[in-house]
Amino acid sequence: MAEVAVAEPLAVYRSGPEDGLPILLLHAFPLDAQMWDEVIMRMPDVPIVSVDAPGFGDSPSYALVAAAVGQGPRPSIETYADAVVASLLREEIERAVVVGLSMGGYVALSLADRYPALVAAIGLLDTKASGDDEDARANRLRIAEAAKELGATAVAPMLTTLLGKTTQSQRTALVAEVKGLLAAAPPEGIAWAQQAMADRPDRFQVLEGLDVPGLVLRGAEDAVSSQEAAEAMAHALKDCELVVVPGAGHLTALEEPEAVVDALRSLWERAQR
Ligand code: MLT
Repeated sequence: MAEVAVAEPLAVYRSGPEDGLPILLLHAFPLDAQMWDEVIMRMPDVPIVSVDAPGFGDSPSYALVAAAVGQGPRPSIETYADAVVASLLREEIERAVVVGLSMGGYVALSLADRYPALVAAIGLLDTKASGDDEDARANRLRIAEAAKELGATAVAPMLTTLLGKTTQSQRTALVAEVKGLLAAAPPEGIAWAQQAMADRPDRFQVLEGLDVPGLVLRGAEDAVSSQEAAEAMAHALKDCELVVVPGAGHLTALEEPEAVVDALRSLWERAQR
C-alpha cells in the first residue's frame, strides 16, 4: 500500500507517477483500499489514487466525513461521493478514470451523476446500475441493525458470496485473507454503508448520458452482480468494453488481479486517445 497523502476528509493513497491522468480506485464493501494492492503493484507506471470509504481503513467516521463536506448524518452514497471529490481537490486532481468495484461502482455512478467533469472514463466492476428491490433493501437494513448489535459477525456469511467457487476450492490463502478482512470490518462502517446502499437510486440514465470510454467487468462466478446486470450497463454506455473474467467471483481485483489490470490499462489508454 502506498503512503497516506491526506487524512481529511478521506484517507487518500497515491502511487505511480505524479503527473498524468490518474485512475481513481473505489473499493468494495466491507473492505478498504487495501483490496487494490495486487492491482496497484502491477501498474507502477500508471498514476493511481485510491481512498478508504468513510469509517473504513484509515478514513474518519461517516459522521465526521459528512460534517467535513457539509452534509447531514443520514447515510448516503452521495455524501461519500462528495467526500471523494473534496479529497481529490486537495490532491489537485480534477479529472480521473473513475473505477469502482461493487459498492465502489455505486460511488462511481454517483460521481458520474453529480460531477461529470471529473470522469475521463468509467470502470464498473462487479456492480450494477439498478437500485435495490424491497427485499434487498430490507436485508440491508437488517444487516445494519445486526452490525450495531453483533459487530462484524453480521457480514461473516458474505465470504461464500464474495468469492467464486474456483477461489473457494483452490485459493485457500485468499479465502483465509478475505475471512480475516470480514472479521475486521468496522461495525459502524457496515451500518452506514448498508443504509446508504439501500437508499441508492437506479442510475441507468446517468450511464446513457455519459460520453466517455467505459469498461464493465465481472467475474464469471460472481454470485452478487449478474451477467444480465453487466450487459445492461454495457448496453447503456455509448463506448463500452465488456469483460468477463473466468475463474473469479465478486472480488475480481483479489481473485484475478492480472485480468483486472489488463482491462484497466486498456480503459486508461482509451481515455487518453
Ligand atoms: C460490495 O461488494 O461492495 C457489496 O457486495 C455491494 C452490495 O452489497 O451491493
